[in-house]
Amino acid sequence: MIPLSLPNIAGKEWEYVKQCLDSGWISSAGSFVDRFEVEFAKYLEVEGAISVVNGTSALHIALQLLGVEKNDLVIMPNVTFVASANAISYIGASPLLIDIDQHSWQMDLDLLESFLLTDCKLDSSNTLVHMKTSRKISALMIVHVQGNICDMDRLLAICNEYKLPVLEDAAEALGTKYKGQNAGTLGDIGCFSFNGNKIMSTGGGGMIVSQNSEHIKRAKHLTTTAKRDSLTYFHDEVGYNYRLVNVLAALGVAQLEQLDSFLDSKIDTARFYRDNLKGIGDIGFQLVQDGVESNEWLFTITTSSMQDLLDYLNANGVMSRPFWIPMNQLPMYSDNIYVNKSDISARIHSTALSIPCSTNILQSDLEKVISTIKSFYER
Ligand SMILES: Cc1ncc(COP(=O)(O)O)c(C=O)c1O
Repeated sequence: MIPLSLPNIAGKEWEYVKQCLDSGWISSAGSFVDRFEVEFAKYLEVEGAISVVNGTSALHIALQLLGVEKNDLVIMPNVTFVASANAISYIGASPLLIDIDQHSWQMDLDLLESFLLTDCKLDSSNTLVHMKTSRKISALMIVHVQGNICDMDRLLAICNEYKLPVLEDAAEALGTKYKGQNAGTLGDIGCFSFNGNKIMSTGGGGMIVSQNSEHIKRAKHLTTTAKRDSLTYFHDEVGYNYRLVNVLAALGVAQLEQLDSFLDSKIDTARFYRDNLKGIGDIGFQLVQDGVESNEWLFTITTSSMQDLLDYLNANGVMSRPFWIPMNQLPMYSDNIYVNKSDISARIHSTALSIPCSTNILQSDLEKVISTIKSFYER
């Protein structure tokens, strides 16, 4: 079976982890944690970065940094991995779902803008209120789905007009650039995931980044049990034990050293697939807009024969997976506000499937993927 997207352990992972084991610094303190945060921030050209146990906890903290509270609404796209919505729910707030654009599969900004114009208003204290429910909308979480990114200039202008802080769920978009600037550094706060299927992995892990040093300071405080100083056990608020341990940060440092080559591989794979799958059956691709350099995290195609092709590939040694189920189709979010005209989310979900694109995939495997897909359409 050609796997979908595996971690690629090809650098100094063993060496750095051994340093942790030899020194005994395996837990929540140690030099690799600081090093990972400093080098990650440097790579992204952002003021600061705080490492955490996973991408979900990064989002959970980031929402609190932006002032999201119980009963608030947080705007987000309807298609993403469930963690984006869950992080909002952990606070007792509710995801307000916006349908996606049929070409880029990112949040539909036309829909967002008309919804804000007709259904919401800024009150006298500049708080955005959803008129029908009288609930406060306290933030917008944009998700860079599959490593692609929407028209961020337009999104940031809309959010500025409606006084909405912007959280970027960049879990899938490490290395993606918008007009030369790194995804995750365009809004108020960005969050990343180093889960096993991501472009670089620490097994499990995440990162919070921001250009705002106050957010960074508070992120460190909240993720380390809100302890006032390192000696005494005085905690000044309810904090979280979300810090990344040194052994995993060591993996992160080693993976980050290889990130450029991982990105090259993903981009080469995507180019190869686009060139070789174009014109086969009714296969279509996600649109990457001008000014966007996608990291091409998880190569995904569309076809009206999605379920049959998925079954055929999995039965013939090529791992394939369907796209995220839209949030409005999950039981816990089915009653949430879902802004849409023709439910593009459902259409993309019923036609999209991802195909193998590990950063160490062999050329012979890429060719097998192509020939297997061709043989499906030639049957
Ligand atoms: C868009 C998105 N958000 C959040 C997450 C959550 O990250 P983690 O699995 O590290 O908690 C993921 C992936 O796992 C993701 O794809």
